[in-house]
Amino acid sequence: MTANIKREYHTPVMPDEVVWLMNPKPGGVYIDCTLGSGGHTLGLLEFAGAGAQIIGIDRDQDAISAAKQELKHFRDAATFVHGNFSDLQDIVMSLNVLQVDGILFDLGVSSYQLDEPERGFSYMEDGPLDMRMGQGTGPSARDLVNNLPAEEIADILKIYGEERWAVRIAEFIVRRRDKAPIVTTGELVDIVKAAIPARARRSGPHPARRTFQALRIAVNRELDELHAGLDQAVRILCPGGRLVVISYHSLEDRIVKTMFLKMSGSRNQGCLRILTKKPIVPCEEEVISNPRSRSAKLRAAEKF
Ligand SMILES: C[S@@+](CC[C@H](N)C(=O)[O-])C[C@H]1O[C@@H](n2cnc3c(N)ncnc32)[C@H](O)[C@@H]1O
Repeated sequence: MTANIKREYHTPVMPDEVVWLMNPKPGGVYIDCTLGSGGHTLGLLEFAGAGAQIIGIDRDQDAISAAKQELKHFRDAATFVHGNFSDLQDIVMSLNVLQVDGILFDLGVSSYQLDEPERGFSYMEDGPLDMRMGQGTGPSARDLVNNLPAEEIADILKIYGEERWAVRIAEFIVRRRDKAPIVTTGELVDIVKAAIPARARRSGPHPARRTFQALRIAVNRELDELHAGLDQAVRILCPGGRLVVISYHSLEDRIVKTMFLKMSGSRNQGCLRILTKKPIVPCEEEVISNPRSRSAKLRAAEKF
């Protein structure tokens, strides 16, 4: 069953802010590095008017299918690429594009990836322990929890999840997998709950939230891909071109902030002018109507 039939579309986060900061022009060429179901791309194309072109990239084939449906009235203006934004330069070269006027990254997972238990991203519903955004490519979360040494699992949970019970959770994972492989999200949730003392589980977010975030980041090599993607994005922007990035956790935001600062420094042959002194966050109404936007931070810069 295709994404557009089965799932609800992803609601784009801060769509007006993205359009305002990207300021797309008729005839301009833009890249949406995280196409999802195409919500941001749609807004950019509607605003840009005649002749604008967008290259939409996603590593998830279901996202590409959903976006094609969402953008069916803009078929001539949109080019769909099933790929990884860490291959940005190769992707644009293969399309004979040299420079572009704006690039968007809306990081993380989409609602339909999260809401589809079969994809294994959710701690709220039971499904196979997978978490690969690019279906079938590379090791899954199941591979990591069943094969990595306890120390490496603990490091992943500590570094990518900032989980204070990382060592204990890793020990519980290893103890459990010695009996039988861990194959479902539900099994992993139960292990995490058993590892975290009851008093620490009483308040705050779902006890498995940090573990799932950490494994997802590790499985999809999200921070490495972000470094590579941003680096290439700056190179292919034309002077005056805009880079807009929405991140959803502090590790991502730190990478974006550090890279913007580094590239805006005059001592360092700076080439970026930062447009958002502080990150832009969603307004209260947006957080109420789309709670998944609550952790979003948007940063933008212009190349000179
Ligand atoms: C938050 S969603 C984007 C939603 C989109 N802005 C919209 O309006 O529907 C993030 C998307 O980026 C994709 N993605 C994440 N990392 C990626 C990468 N390294 N390369 C390509 N796509 C990636 C995910 O598969 C997901 O579909």
